[in-house]
Amino acid sequence: MSEDVYSHGHHESVINSHALRTARDSAAYLLPHLLPGCDVLDVGSGPGSITADFAELVAPGNVTGVDREADVVAHATELAARRGLGNLSFRSGDVYNLDVGDDTFDIVHAHQILHHLADPVAAMREMRRVAKPGGLIAAREGDYGAMRWFPEAAALDQWMDIYQKIARGNGAEPNAGRRLLSWANQAGLTGIIPSATTWVYASEPDRPQFADSWAERIVHSSYGTQAIERGLADSSELQNMAEGFRAWGANPDGWFVMIHAEILAWVDG
Ligand SMILES: C[S@@+](CC[C@H](N)C(=O)[O-])C[C@H]1O[C@@H](n2cnc3c(N)ncnc32)[C@H](O)[C@@H]1O
Repeated sequence: MSEDVYSHGHHESVINSHALRTARDSAAYLLPHLLPGCDVLDVGSGPGSITADFAELVAPGNVTGVDREADVVAHATELAARRGLGNLSFRSGDVYNLDVGDDTFDIVHAHQILHHLADPVAAMREMRRVAKPGGLIAAREGDYGAMRWFPEAAALDQWMDIYQKIARGNGAEPNAGRRLLSWANQAGLTGIIPSATTWVYASEPDRPQFADSWAERIVHSSYGTQAIERGLADSSELQNMAEGFRAWGANPDGWFVMIHAEILAWVDG
């Protein structure tokens, strides 16, 4: 397995937040291509909620989720059983070195993993290797530096500054979205269709839930541990940031946008 550090870690607060994602809110650009009978690989599948939606859409095609962390693979496997999806399986694996033959899948998908990797271009080359000729590579990545919010809040400024330092300290690129197309070009992908979509947290209950989730993550997840270990904040500063994030989330004027870049690329057939 690669030695990259996954900046978010797998605290319950992180898994719960990622498990809310759906194919509709996280992979709308790919939906028209998820046709019945397609075999799909989802790399860095995490808790697997998006992957499970794929399985419903492509049945009787098979969907495989791969993640480096055994705990999150177990969580995703439970989800597949709960949803009664016999065409969905999850396993441990490393996106840099997939235990899969060449030319295997119709669609190879990645959502919010490349910005955690030291070498996202190598990961994209590996995604291409396992896609069939004529198949499709799909990736969507956030861009932390392009996140915008209102009203101004010192807690959110500090949260962003510390996240940028943590991610960069781990050799990753938090402002990934703006670089996604260039990474795809460097990986030798061709016929690329770039696009972007957003997540907005402004209405009830989305905004306060988003703020509560990050408030919990600031204090309890790897975010807090790494911030303290690296001297970026002490525990009382983390508590203050969490309270500031919650206060921002309670403001009915509060508005937050995340931009996500996407690429689709067809493998030469
Ligand atoms: C931000 S989560 C995204 C999960 C899921 N795609 C989603 O959007 O809900 C990133 C996931 O990538 C996994 N990951 C990180 N590095 C990896 C690697 N080298 N190979 C496979 N998975 C990796 C992490 O364990 C984590 O579950």
